[in-house]
Amino acid sequence: MTDLCGIPLAHPVLNASGTFDAIAARRVFGDALLERFPFAAFVTKTVTLEPRQGNPPPRLWELPAGLINSIGLPNNGLARFLTEDLPELAELPVPLVVNVMGSSREAVARLVAAVAARDEVAAVELNVSCPNVKTGLLMGADPGETAGLLTAVRPLTAKPLIVKLTPNCTSPAAVAAAAEQAGADGLSLLNTVRGMALDPQRPGRPWLGGGTGGVSGPAVRAVALAQVAEVRGRVGLPIVGMGGVQTARHARDLMEAGADLVAVGTESFRDPLVGERIAAELVQTSANSGELWALSGEA
Ligand SMILES: Cc1cc2nc3c(=O)[nH]c(=O)nc-3n(C[C@H](O)[C@H](O)[C@H](O)COP(=O)(O)O)c2cc1C
Repeated sequence: MTDLCGIPLAHPVLNASGTFDAIAARRVFGDALLERFPFAAFVTKTVTLEPRQGNPPPRLWELPAGLINSIGLPNNGLARFLTEDLPELAELPVPLVVNVMGSSREAVARLVAAVAARDEVAAVELNVSCPNVKTGLLMGADPGETAGLLTAVRPLTAKPLIVKLTPNCTSPAAVAAAAEQAGADGLSLLNTVRGMALDPQRPGRPWLGGGTGGVSGPAVRAVALAQVAEVRGRVGLPIVGMGGVQTARHARDLMEAGADLVAVGTESFRDPLVGERIAAELVQTSANSGELWALSGEA
């Protein structure tokens, strides 16, 4: 056993937000999904106040080692999330973490208050990769912005608040330290790294409908490792490390760099059971060496 900010988990592998659609998977696999759920907790795709269509196509560009996505956070919006999605997600056999994003502190506060009030929700993850419409600054790119956001939402719930850091800023570690001081319970990193692909048919024009997108998968693994180590050097909060994890070795690397738990994103598109495989390999490794559970707090 391990835990996420005090929430007991069967193993240390979660899904990364937006990369595993549990509702669609349930439709395809039925109750088999509940009997063999690959992750120790389920993190939802980002929920926003209003419904979003997402970005125009094309939305994906495959890289030699990963992909660039410009999905643009399509979702049903808060009201339909609460009435339609949440009851279905509550049937999953693992704790539920709801990822939210807003374009102002007030918007994020409304989201946090509404989702954290629901008994089905164990924790809230704040996706801070969004500009604050009032200041023009990316909420998670500036320590002052992040601290201001936490100060606004911290009083609204006693449930764990996890700040999902963006790598697209000068110092994720400084943002992490600000989040810790302002009352965050945990950190997750990294979100996708801003990237771009050009249209092979139209020189100089971007391929993705959104212009730029977010790079994920093995291409960002080394960046994730460096940023987790840097953040761990500045904060004592629990860290969920992610970025290019495909094997138990990659998960172990992130844990050795300072993560307490790991999340798997892009690799789930290739192997939806990857979370289960990595968790089993980690248990095996720990049984062989006695080392891993020490890292995840068990020994
Ligand atoms: C297709 C796709 C959709 C994503 N959607 C979200 C999202 O809704 N909210 C969020 O916070 N992160 C989102 N992410 C970022 C992932 O949660 C994760 O931070 C990132 O992909 C790095 O992990 P990975 O290399 O294992 O994919 C998305 C990533 C991908 C590839």
